Amino acid sequence: MRKITKAVIPAAGFGTRVLPASKAVPKEMLAIVDEPAIQYIVEEAVNSGITDILIITNRGKGDIEDHFDRAPELERRLLDAGKMDLYESVVRPAQLANIYSLRQKEAKGLGHAVSCARSFIGNEPFAVLYGDDVIISDTPVLGQLMDAYERYGKGVVGVKEMSTDVVMRGSSLKIEPLAEGCFACSDMIEKPAHESQLFSHYTVLGRCILPPEIFDIIDHTPPGANGEIQLTDAMAELSRTVGMTAVDFIGKRYDLGNKLGMLQAAVEVGCKHPEIGDAFRAYLKELIHNL
Ligand code: UTP
Repeated sequence: MRKITKAVIPAAGFGTRVLPASKAVPKEMLAIVDEPAIQYIVEEAVNSGITDILIITNRGKGDIEDHFDRAPELERRLLDAGKMDLYESVVRPAQLANIYSLRQKEAKGLGHAVSCARSFIGNEPFAVLYGDDVIISDTPVLGQLMDAYERYGKGVVGVKEMSTDVVMRGSSLKIEPLAEGCFACSDMIEKPAHESQLFSHYTVLGRCILPPEIFDIIDHTPPGANGEIQLTDAMAELSRTVGMTAVDFIGKRYDLGNKLGMLQAAVEVGCKHPEIGDAFRAYLKELIHNL
């Protein structure tokens, strides 16, 4: 079976749920304490064995490209000042992987963003990591999905069981148990309009492994929810025809596309942060005491 080495990170959405923060700064670049969200996602991909990453951007998202590039003047300044830790942290993003970017000319939806990666991917299976879904885990979640891909040989989605309102705003999957934490997926629906349309409370959360056949499917997928070409609609067809595998991954996911998710990520990462964790926890305890 072909090893998965390429990943696509769609990061060309408008980020309307976190406006005005995302007006001039891409939401994928908003920091969780001291690292932009998208760096966590790139690191997860690299820790799972990915070597080549295509980030789908658009006008106004040049900050993302700059973050994964070298910054010679800043690096020289830090080196001259002997600030080696900061120097390493500035150089590191540029050395993580082969990182490319491509502009989605119009934000026509997540499915359309993925289809922009067609010539980069060619005829091999690949990973998709949504640019605003950060998942923190001991074993990288994409690696957990790769294990299921090797085992069952089908496209894989990372899933969690969520509350009705989260599923209604996301996707709902038709699944049957296969093994511990693994399901066979035979259908899915994006943003169900009524509770009666729910297949289950399992929803796709930000990670997939897809066969190259998905590109032809996306090409004939009509606009769906919100008038956008939805990746879920294309994966629904893949599930109904050849089937997919759903992995109830081990890890904590933060939706950086919404305000509460941004705060949750900042608080939890802040509590464990090697430099400010102790002080931040002390601050939180005092704050909670006075709430
Ligand atoms: P979302 O639907 O969460 O992003 O897509 P959005 O459109 O920015 O969200 P809101 O509703 O306006 O707040 C998940 C991921 O897909 C990317 C987004 O950047 C995000 O990382 N995306 C979405 C694209 O790359 N292109 C699109 O056309 C839509």
